[in-house]
Amino acid sequence: MKFFVDTADVGDIKDLLSTGLLDGVTTNPSLVAKSGRQFKEVIAEICALTEMPVSAEVSAVDTDGMIAEGELLANIAENVVVKLPLTLDGLAACAHFKRKKIMTNVTLCFSANQALLAAKAGATYVSPFIGRLDDINLEGSDLIKDIRKIYDNYGFETKILAASIRTANHVTQAALAGADVTTIPPAVIKKLAQHPLTDKGLEQFLNDWKATGQSIL
Ligand code: E4P
Repeated sequence: MKFFVDTADVGDIKDLLSTGLLDGVTTNPSLVAKSGRQFKEVIAEICALTEMPVSAEVSAVDTDGMIAEGELLANIAENVVVKLPLTLDGLAACAHFKRKKIMTNVTLCFSANQALLAAKAGATYVSPFIGRLDDINLEGSDLIKDIRKIYDNYGFETKILAASIRTANHVTQAALAGADVTTIPPAVIKKLAQHPLTDKGLEQFLNDWKATGQSIL
């Protein structure tokens, strides 16, 4: 499963790129607002750091507007993935970008039928939102399982990008359900590596090693 980081914070992206764990970046209008920075400038800066896919979301809600904005965003760099809302207008824009061989991420997906439409429109990625379904007492990971089954039934090539990940558990659920990619906030990525028994075990090994008086180098 690929790991994308879900942030518009360039500092966090730089840190995580240095771990070698990342496969891409996703942003959304809320994350850009949180960064307090100019959207196109941030996308250009991220794309200068990496050739991995970087999702940049349109703000128009009509097909023509999405196409105009998406083409502008796609011109920033070859690795820009145009992020479009899962609406009929967004799906029409998605089909346009498919014809132009521009990558797309169809976002705000909350049902298997919506994901079916995204695949039929030729989306590169579809983003089902696990956390927001859990918020309303539904099982977000069930949606990933359903989409996996449907895409496999028909051989759709659209990649399932599990989004709205809030916890380390969500990452496990997405992996078990067969997501191709998970986009994860920086703080959650860091938590994935943590375990109290790892810390405790390391402390003991270091103490015992010190007692040997040896050095490896
Ligand atoms: C997905 O692409 C979105 O950027 C993001 O995962 C939404 O997460 P949230 O529901 O925690 O805002």
